[in-house]
Amino acid sequence: MTWEQALQAWQTNQPPRHYLSITDLNPKTARAVLDLAHAMKRATRQGIELFRFERPTAFALIFEKPSLRTRVTLEVGLYQMGAHGVYLTQNDIQMGKREAVMDIARNLGRWVQGVIARVFYHSVLHELAQFAGVPVINALSDHEHPCQALADWMTIEEYKGNRPLTVAWVGDGNNVCHSFMLLSALLGHSVRIATPEGYEPDPQVLQQARAWGSVYLTHDPEEAVAGADVVYTDVWVSMGYETEREIRMRQFAPFQVNEALMRHALPDAIVLHCLPARRGEEITDAVLDGPQSAVWDQAENRLHTQKALIALLCHSQGQNP
Ligand code: CP
Ligand code: NVA
Repeated sequence: MTWEQALQAWQTNQPPRHYLSITDLNPKTARAVLDLAHAMKRATRQGIELFRFERPTAFALIFEKPSLRTRVTLEVGLYQMGAHGVYLTQNDIQMGKREAVMDIARNLGRWVQGVIARVFYHSVLHELAQFAGVPVINALSDHEHPCQALADWMTIEEYKGNRPLTVAWVGDGNNVCHSFMLLSALLGHSVRIATPEGYEPDPQVLQQARAWGSVYLTHDPEEAVAGADVVYTDVWVSMGYETEREIRMRQFAPFQVNEALMRHALPDAIVLHCLPARRGEEITDAVLDGPQSAVWDQAENRLHTQKALIALLCHSQGQNP
């Protein structure tokens, strides 16, 4: 896939103005991002960039929560494409405290060509999108982590090719689960989700995913993992939920991804984790460091998928005429 082919596929299939949720994509725009990301990875490894911004281009990178992968891959990816990222923490701009979100959005829109934000409340992303006048990208909210899901599926395709698969999510029905479940269904795969009672995915997200494809919900991790091609887990205590740590540790204990659980999956199943991992909690060292683990490729692919997304989203809106 060349850049021109990807752009054509993106532009002719109702591209979104912002990327706040997997629901901003359709099967064709999702395919365009993933195909371009695969091509960009191959090209970057040969020292070639398939897309570079021609005009001076800057992005605001708002982070209300900590980050390793998302921040580094965004900053490095923008650099590789000839753009600049301005990193802003909650300490710097104090969204909603020092200044109203809508005013911050209006200011940023006068200086930068895109806003990428990691926020506590998903509604803040909608407000940024309403007032910024430039594309807004969700770098994780309490509700979704749609940049992560693109890297997840790029990784799965590298290992498994482009065929219908059964993917299992084990643990919290959280932000990462929502985006992964939605994109899996959108791309035509079968999803199985095992959570403790009370930690199921949001019913509306579940309903949307089921409108697109098959999603099976259970409270039994072995049932979810049985015969699966992919086993995915995430921390039991997401950022913002630290006060629930004690009770969650008890309730999630049977949902650890360990070698015993992995024996229920297909022998060539891969293991995903968005990272950071709490070793010995949701996943054991033996699995994370074992032969089925694809987590380092998954982390690398954050770079390529975000570059593809930013290039398509921002170019198609005339930010790089
Ligand atoms: N997976 C992920 O988003 O990692 P960071 O929180 O380190 O960005
Ligand atoms: N669910 C985790 C993902 C971190 C990348 C969190 O929100 O903290």
